Amino acid sequence: MDNRLFFSATKRNRACIGDKLSTIIKKKGSILEIGSGSGEHGVVFQKRFPEIIWHTSDPELLHRKSIISWIEHEKLDQKMPQPLELDVEKIPWKISLNLENSLQGIVSINMIHVAQWNCTVALFRESGKLLKKGQFLILYGPFKIGNKHTSQSNYFFDNSIKIQNDLWGIRNLDEVSYEGKKNGFFQENMISMPANNLLIIYRKVS
Ligand SMILES: C[S@@+](CC[C@H](N)C(=O)[O-])C[C@H]1O[C@@H](n2cnc3c(N)ncnc32)[C@H](O)[C@@H]1O
Repeated sequence: MDNRLFFSATKRNRACIGDKLSTIIKKKGSILEIGSGSGEHGVVFQKRFPEIIWHTSDPELLHRKSIISWIEHEKLDQKMPQPLELDVEKIPWKISLNLENSLQGIVSINMIHVAQWNCTVALFRESGKLLKKGQFLILYGPFKIGNKHTSQSNYFFDNSIKIQNDLWGIRNLDEVSYEGKKNGFFQENMISMPANNLLIIYRKVS
């Protein structure tokens, strides 16, 4: 059965995110993607970085079904593992030893603003436990800088997601990076991306 979902933003941002990832990702090893959604990013990045293994995950069954369908559709079943059922707040994360040992970094795209703040806290806490010195956690999405929106469109977007859930909202980068710091990460880079998004690279210090 074809359970593929199509998330329109992924069409717009996959190429530019992939370009930045290509400067960070090493040739070998595994990447864990948190909140993979439809799975469109997962299959695109698996094809773009054929020597690595891209592990998708999502807490939503509908999303995991979509990811499975995308993997089948792109004929990547022999390469890509099935999506993990992973809710960042349900700790400790159930990660196989194989994945843990081959992990080079964690990526989460457009997740932390559509989840409660505790999810950001849990994301850093668990990533901090899993990742070793020099490994990365990459976040992509809209952020506030100095607690201010960086554009009017982000302000409107923030209001619209808060109507859906008042615990959601565009996060303030300083507070996000402080969570990183508490868990052994430093903010290595902040890259401006199209449509007022940022790609933030956190690096594990020890
Ligand atoms: C806006 S979608 C983005 C999906 C995909 N990364 C993309 O860019 O198209 C947010 C995703 O975060 C996932 N998510 C929400 N809460 C989560 C949590 N507590 N742990 C992990 N993922 C979560 C949702 O299920 C959804 O797939």
